[in-house]
Amino acid sequence: MMLLECFIFVVITILMTGAQCEETEVFAEAGSQAVLPCKCGPSSPYPSNIIWTKDRKGTVWRKGKNGLQFWGSSFLPKENQRLQCPHSQFERGDYSLQINNVRKGDGGIYTCKVDHGDQVIENVVILRIMEVSISSLVPVWGNDVTISCNVTPCPHGAAIQWMLNNSPVMSQTGIILNGNAVESFVREKATARLTGNWTCVVGYKGNKWQASAALTVKGIIHPSKDNTKVYAAVGSAVTLPCVFSPGLTPSNTLWEKLKPESIFRPIPGRLSASFSPPSPSSQFPLDKSASLKEVGFEDEGRYRCSGTVEGQRLTRNMQLVVAKIDSRTTSKERGTVTLTCQLSDSSDVTDYEWVHVVYDLNGTQSIGSIQKGKTLSISKMSENQGEWACRFYGTEGILGNVTSHIQLMSGLNGQKSSDPSDNTAAVVGLSLLLLVLLLVLVKMCKNHQRRKRIFQYPALETIVHNTSIEREERERKREKK
Ligand SMILES: *[C@@H]1O[C@H](CO)[C@@H](O)[C@H](O)[C@H]1NC(C)=O
Ligand SMILES: *[C@@H]1O[C@H](CO)[C@@H](O)[C@H](O)[C@H]1NC(C)=O
Repeated sequence: MMLLECFIFVVITILMTGAQCEETEVFAEAGSQAVLPCKCGPSSPYPSNIIWTKDRKGTVWRKGKNGLQFWGSSFLPKENQRLQCPHSQFERGDYSLQINNVRKGDGGIYTCKVDHGDQVIENVVILRIMEVSISSLVPVWGNDVTISCNVTPCPHGAAIQWMLNNSPVMSQTGIILNGNAVESFVREKATARLTGNWTCVVGYKGNKWQASAALTVKGIIHPSKDNTKVYAAVGSAVTLPCVFSPGLTPSNTLWEKLKPESIFRPIPGRLSASFSPPSPSSQFPLDKSASLKEVGFEDEGRYRCSGTVEGQRLTRNMQLVVAKIDSRTTSKERGTVTLTCQLSDSSDVTDYEWVHVVYDLNGTQSIGSIQKGKTLSISKMSENQGEWACRFYGTEGILGNVTSHIQLMSGLNGQKSSDPSDNTAAVVGLSLLLLVLLLVLVKMCKNHQRRKRIFQYPALETIVHNTSIEREERERKREKK
């Protein structure tokens, strides 16, 4: 916190020079150290009496002729001696009062009276405490949050401005007057937009004083924004992130795939078979990320992660963009394969690059040539061993890559790369057909031979026939018994 830095907002507008009653403005941020000046110059004689009073009546601190110190009843040095008037400075004619860890209640009018016997010096210091506070230091996304700036006492005609991360805040601000204190506040629904350093700037008499506080909004921190794109290559595994802020206990977390036609009111669709939801017994209870074991091109689309936190339903939408490589051989140029890098949504892609990845005998990969562009034409005959990877870039660097294996392609002449499972099915079907044909052929061959034999021995046929009839009759009788 800023407060720990002990930032001192001390501005001395008028330095005390004579024995007049002067007024000094001191602004201090709550929690910091305030120094209330009271100086007489080194030439002045050692004073017989020094007294600091607050609001012109109550004694704060006093030092008499005998050198003894007294503290006002409400300023007794019980807690860490917040107030002190360091003796070491007295020789230089400096009787400034130091207040550590200032609070709202310290704000007010202080008077320093230094008695030199023949001359009394009186100095008036107005201490104004500025404090920025937030209704809930870590509000949950969607809940109301109030950021307020209190100035006690507030000077007349002061202007209060708000800054968030050093840029002016456009929100509407309210103001509350409470006695001599003024409180300016901003009330908003908590979103990531409110995260950052809130600074209250008080402008008065051409000077500016400020105080700040940091605000963090709790919710789904990863991805931090809605509609974040997640890139994955076909066939690869991908994680769809959904991580809640530390300290939250999300319940009823749910993953949905949103139907593409529902842009305005998302309608849940079906999750694919390779989708695996976060494990409920995970050792990271804030990590509700899901994964897809093997991404298919049809898995692209919008996904939504949601969970309930402190009665508030938090959601995060994201988009899975799937990349694949289409390969084609044109009939004109046989032996040339054209590879195209295809993304389900290429709206954020600014550049494509093809990288030749070669593996040596040890299996270590090295990068060969690199070519720009979305498509790549390569010769099948050439020694294009290894793989070609398509890398795609956005404005902020690489988004992902997808790899194509050259060896596989030589078997697929003139066709779009097809599913290997279709190939196996075709092979199995063809083998079955061949087997059936073979069986039919064998049977036909057998029948033909039998008929030939029967023609040679017609009597044999009757015998064979009769014996078979007899056998059948015998069997029938046996069944009846
Ligand atoms: C392969 O590995 C062996 C031993 O690990 C090494 O001597 C050789 O140089 C490597 N070959 C290549 C092409 O990197
Ligand atoms: C493709 O991306 C993976 C994962 O980020 C990376 O390990 C691999 O080196 C990349 N390949 C190329 C050729 O850039």
